[in-house]
Amino acid sequence: MRIGIYGGSFDPVHNGHIAMIKSALKSGIVDLLIVIPSVRNNFKLYSNKLPPPYRLVMMKETIEGLGIKNCYVSDVEFGIDGVSYTSVVLAKLTSKKYIREFLLSNDIKRKKAEEDHEFFWVMGSDTLATFETWYKPEDILKHAALLAAARPGDDTDVEKAASSIRKNLGGKVEIFRLDGVLCSSSEILSTGDFSKVPEPTREFIARHALYTENTMLSGVSDEAKKQFFEASVWMSNYLGSKRLLHTLNVGYLSAHLAEVFGADKDKALIAGALHDCAKELPIETQNKLAKKYSGDLFTEKKLLHSPAGSTFAKEELGIKDKEILDAICYHTTGRGDMNLLEKIVYLADKIEPARTYTDLTPIRNAAEKDLDSAMRMTAASVKDKFVSQGRDIHPLTELMMKDLKM
Ligand SMILES: [Fe+2]
Ligand SMILES: [Fe+2]
Repeated sequence: MRIGIYGGSFDPVHNGHIAMIKSALKSGIVDLLIVIPSVRNNFKLYSNKLPPPYRLVMMKETIEGLGIKNCYVSDVEFGIDGVSYTSVVLAKLTSKKYIREFLLSNDIKRKKAEEDHEFFWVMGSDTLATFETWYKPEDILKHAALLAAARPGDDTDVEKAASSIRKNLGGKVEIFRLDGVLCSSSEILSTGDFSKVPEPTREFIARHALYTENTMLSGVSDEAKKQFFEASVWMSNYLGSKRLLHTLNVGYLSAHLAEVFGADKDKALIAGALHDCAKELPIETQNKLAKKYSGDLFTEKKLLHSPAGSTFAKEELGIKDKEILDAICYHTTGRGDMNLLEKIVYLADKIEPARTYTDLTPIRNAAEKDLDSAMRMTAASVKDKFVSQGRDIHPLTELMMKDLKM
């Protein structure tokens, strides 16, 4: 098959990206397109607004929501250590093993998936002009031809850049006609005008309350931001996308609440983001990890992931801060004498933007003003749930409620 590959930050996805995708497919030069959200772009290392998993799921939901056929999203960059240079990404993506498994997992017929494929790196006309200055352009051309977009009006420049690449690097360059609008993610973010963002993308952004004040991470250190990004990539090995975005949402909300109530924003971001990191590990693994952190304090299956998460974050990510580890450990039950950080993570877990189990508006409003009152409301609803399910309230939760004068 002829396979187009289109990489980018997609932060956020906008109509310009969709025009590229649709026009490349319409050109007939490629049979299908693989879209790759970037992880560690050498130009934007950790400077994306959103960590990679959000951008991956946002693109998937958009393609699906718009019903674009023959277009698939790949997380190939998640498995690459260090900067994801195009040549490195292409080497991995175009390897027989990867591409075969990727196509099969996207329901492409075995016969087609196992063909010898021809690859095209899809790019805008502006990037084509600078291609010769990229990192190892000749390596890129070993894996793929270039497929460049030309807007009506800029054909001559595109032709010029294409002939230079053909002549100097001996690469194959094809050109396709781009039908569509001009827009840029940075302009959308700086103006706050999301009208050039497709509807399914907008729904995704609204559901997770992204690109708002709460997710700007102002006042968070670069080191913590980096850790947040890296933790998100690491957790994608262990969590399905829904839970992964939930746990990251809790990171964002915890950082916001830390700002409101004067806690350490860096710690809140990291503790919140990691709170559910162990939740989808096999239960025996959770049990072992939990015991290491808190002995026999937690025995109920549903609670194990909390202390297990503390050990997991400590051993795998090297998190040593006791306050962070404790906030992860007690996020499900609470405990007596909770500190500010523990309360924040406990609460953020129950009310992050994508939570819809009940009308959370009153608690969310309370959480902006009075932490203990929001905690009481949350604990009361947790208690109701436990009573209705015939479950016992954990002694640690009893202690928390006593402290809250409930
Ligand atoms: Fe949890
Ligand atoms: Fe959670």
